[in-house]
Amino acid sequence: MACLHKYLPASAITSALVLLAIAGAVPFAHHSALATQVTHDKPAPSAREHEFGDAFIVSLGGKLYDNYWAGSGANPPATRNPAFPSDLTVSDTDSWRCVSCHGWDYDGAAKTDGSVQQQKQFVGLRHLQGTDPFNMLELFTRAHPDQKALASGGLPLDLLLLFLTVGQYDQENFRPEKSLSQKSLSRGRDIFEGVCMSCHDPSGKSGFQVTPGMRGSLGWQARNQPGRMIHKIINGVPGESMLALRFMDEPAIADLVAYLKTLDPEAN
Ligand code: HEC
Ligand code: HEC
Repeated sequence: MACLHKYLPASAITSALVLLAIAGAVPFAHHSALATQVTHDKPAPSAREHEFGDAFIVSLGGKLYDNYWAGSGANPPATRNPAFPSDLTVSDTDSWRCVSCHGWDYDGAAKTDGSVQQQKQFVGLRHLQGTDPFNMLELFTRAHPDQKALASGGLPLDLLLLFLTVGQYDQENFRPEKSLSQKSLSRGRDIFEGVCMSCHDPSGKSGFQVTPGMRGSLGWQARNQPGRMIHKIINGVPGESMLALRFMDEPAIADLVAYLKTLDPEAN
């Protein structure tokens, strides 16, 4: 990947603390305070100059795509997004999240009833991968006058839009049939035991909160919600200490996902 700093304002390089806050690497209490400062375009206190690598920078945008408010520490809109289909149950905050309409595979959220109304709400963004990051702010502002909370822009919005042009990956690369050999599974297990088990249970059954519609099992999630899982493994979990594996080769991550699918088989 080419150096991405040219797409970010110069302040991004000096705002090391803001980037670390979005990454979940500084405690959340500082985090919200920092996000407020970003919004008001003031430099973070005692931010040291530091240049981060591309994989890290892009993973921050991925976290904001998942949940802008959990990632940036900003307050979410207080009411439900009127553009979100009224027949689907989501929390008010979730109705504003990019992923809720544009999907974990960036190709539009799951079209639960396939109606014309839903097709319209759930549009894909895959075509933006590889396009010019400098066009994105205009494109976003034109398509989303409704996303007023983000209109003030700043570093978090830059990171989010950068993610859409350079950070999307192809779900096809993680299909199980591409990596089910014993060799793949044992490499996947090595990654799981070497990395994930520091925080997650060996059975994959604990270590994260269970939200409605989801089961507390990495095995279940790998089999039933692979798009959500892969996005979170690659980019991390907004506002949490979970790591981001974007620096790893895609085939290695595919092996990890293949191994995760074998965990906790009773959970279907
Ligand atoms: C309620 C559903 C919904 C949510 C939430 C949502 N979008 Fe959209 N998005 C749409 C729809 C519908 C369009 C098409 C709008 C149009 O063409 O007028 C769109 C268009 C876009 C476009 C322009 C695509 C193009 O090729 O012109 C971008 C970029 C975009 N959205 C980014 C985002 C980001 C970033 C977020 C999160 C901050 C987000 N969207 C949240 C529904 C949503
Ligand atoms: C430093 C601790 C840590 C490590 C290491 C870690 N995780 Fe996590 N993980 C977390 C935390 C914290 C959460 C979010 C907690 C929550 O949802 O309550 C999380 C959440 C997740 C989720 C998201 C669940 C959801 O909400 O959909 C997945 C998937 C996941 N982890 C998989 C992995 C995998 C696979 C690895 C190994 C590559 C790994 N984690 C390594 C701490 C960690």
